[in-house]
Amino acid sequence: MCGIVGYVGRRSAVDVVIDGLRRLEYRGYDSAGVALVADGEAGGLEVDKRAGKLANLEAALADHPLPESFCGIGHTRWATHGVPSDRNAHPHLSADGRIALIHNGIIENFAQLRAELESDGIEFASDTDTEVAAHLLGREYVMEGNLTEAMTRVCSRLEGAFTLLAVAADDPDTVVGARRNSPLVVGLGRDEYFLASDVAAFIAYTTDAIELGQDQIVTIDRSGVSVRGFDGSPSEGKPFSVDWDITAAEKGGYETFMAKELREQPQAVADTLRGRIDESGQIVLDEVRMSDQDFRDVDKVFIIACGTSYHAGLVTKYAIEHWTRIPCEVELASEFRYRDPVLDRSTLVVAISQSGETMDTLMAVRHAKDQKARVLSISNTVGSTIPRESDAVLYTRAGIEVAVASTKAFLTQLAACYLVGLHLAQVRGIKYADEVSAVLDELVAAPGKIAQVIEGLEPVRQMARDCALNGGSGGGRVLFIGRHVGYPVALEGALKLKELAYLHAEGFAAGELKHGPISLVEEGTPVIAIVPSPRGRSLLHDKIISNIQEVKARGARVIAVCEEGDRITSAHADFVIETPASPTLLAPLLTAVPLQEFAIEFATALGRDIDQPRNLAKSVTVE
Ligand code: M6R
Repeated sequence: MCGIVGYVGRRSAVDVVIDGLRRLEYRGYDSAGVALVADGEAGGLEVDKRAGKLANLEAALADHPLPESFCGIGHTRWATHGVPSDRNAHPHLSADGRIALIHNGIIENFAQLRAELESDGIEFASDTDTEVAAHLLGREYVMEGNLTEAMTRVCSRLEGAFTLLAVAADDPDTVVGARRNSPLVVGLGRDEYFLASDVAAFIAYTTDAIELGQDQIVTIDRSGVSVRGFDGSPSEGKPFSVDWDITAAEKGGYETFMAKELREQPQAVADTLRGRIDESGQIVLDEVRMSDQDFRDVDKVFIIACGTSYHAGLVTKYAIEHWTRIPCEVELASEFRYRDPVLDRSTLVVAISQSGETMDTLMAVRHAKDQKARVLSISNTVGSTIPRESDAVLYTRAGIEVAVASTKAFLTQLAACYLVGLHLAQVRGIKYADEVSAVLDELVAAPGKIAQVIEGLEPVRQMARDCALNGGSGGGRVLFIGRHVGYPVALEGALKLKELAYLHAEGFAAGELKHGPISLVEEGTPVIAIVPSPRGRSLLHDKIISNIQEVKARGARVIAVCEEGDRITSAHADFVIETPASPTLLAPLLTAVPLQEFAIEFATALGRDIDQPRNLAKSVTVE
């Protein structure tokens, strides 16, 4: 939700800031803006901001370049308060025009502050919550004469979630930032310093970084970095080094980041498993700061997550309950804390979040910790807030995922969750050693099978284009059905199509269809069925074949994702996508992939923006 960048150094600030915004645009793309402090004695602020994607701002800057500057801030917005427009775009200025400020988050007491400022005669130039912070900072700066002091005083008045960056017209050497609940990292270059929502913004210049803690204020100038608490006391961040380079944040010859990331899945899953299974077949989860005894004490598991990560959690429930016999509930993080779940010290809460910053999940984690539950997070972002506030963490190793729609994050979350489930089974002695090893062998074989699925995607692409271009038939919707772990895969397939193609797509438990949703089926409606393995005379398989017949009888065009060689399914479906044989519980690692490609191709045929679908942002840092 909103990308922010700040820079002080020896390079052209506008170039560094725009470059950073380009890499952060996945966080929001409703508008973009920059503020630079002109170099030299006179200083002065130069601001440009435009509604729409960053390209609009870049075009404006090409027409009217800003004066030379080595100090600046920039913002790419996901709108919360106020429509996407030039006037609501950040930066916002203080009433005297001497301070420019950008913000990620929501200032919850903005209405009260706005009323107070308006009663003092201040006129507002936007509908945003952010502008109150700009005016307060302007007022404090006049009194304090020091941006860091002024920011400290302003933070004591704000409630909610905010990362703020500010520059002052008469200080061409300083950017001040503040962080509460929304991400902010510092990049350490040689005689140059960066502030950003995410390291991707400055990875082209440095891999040395500092992670800021909760309620900290940071000041960068040409001589270095200083950190203090909101109470003004000296503090420090946590240094770390970024272990991927700029090529990971480039498209590498693909049309879209999503197409590239889909094809990185075999490697990402292999990387997530790497080093986590020792030679004797024991699962070794080094970063997990929970002892075997802690895992033995668990008598209930709650999984909390949002969106795609929630779907990974739904798959995990089947695996954990089957492998460990521990009851497992999965809950949308945004609902969790509001219904007063029953938690105690022997409850294990697994929080799944690619970004590690999703506010709904973070708040659910805090609630779980308040109730004394142990929290294990599964995240792709080292040093992000959710892992930092958890008792234990297992990192997926998907590398940076730029496309808003998740692909490799999902598959690596599944891999990490399977490891957690099998680890629980191992330490509790629920399964024989050879049973666990058999699953682990299959897990280790999964990357090769995912690669096989990817190699066979061409027919899926053609079929998806055909479906998209014949969207007029079938009620203009696509339904996804599945049973058991195929059900969460159906939900994920529908989410991918919804977010990319802006089309009514819905996933159902196949058995539930006849209880209502089957009325959505009409002549030509595409119904994508995730079919479990037919091996071992699977009851599940028989049941979904019946469900396929039910929709076919009502005119559906059935597309089946099934195991290779499944002749029964091929006899009933209009189009078949085969995946390699896999144990039932691990099948989502394979069956989700063609649905990702289906969504990309379907949406491409409709001319949609694949990497930046409308109204969305990758990292949702508001509740
Ligand atoms: O970063 P998180 O995993 O916490 O994000 C949760 C959801 O916002 C996310 O999974 C979202 O649904 C996907 N990007 C959709 O493809």
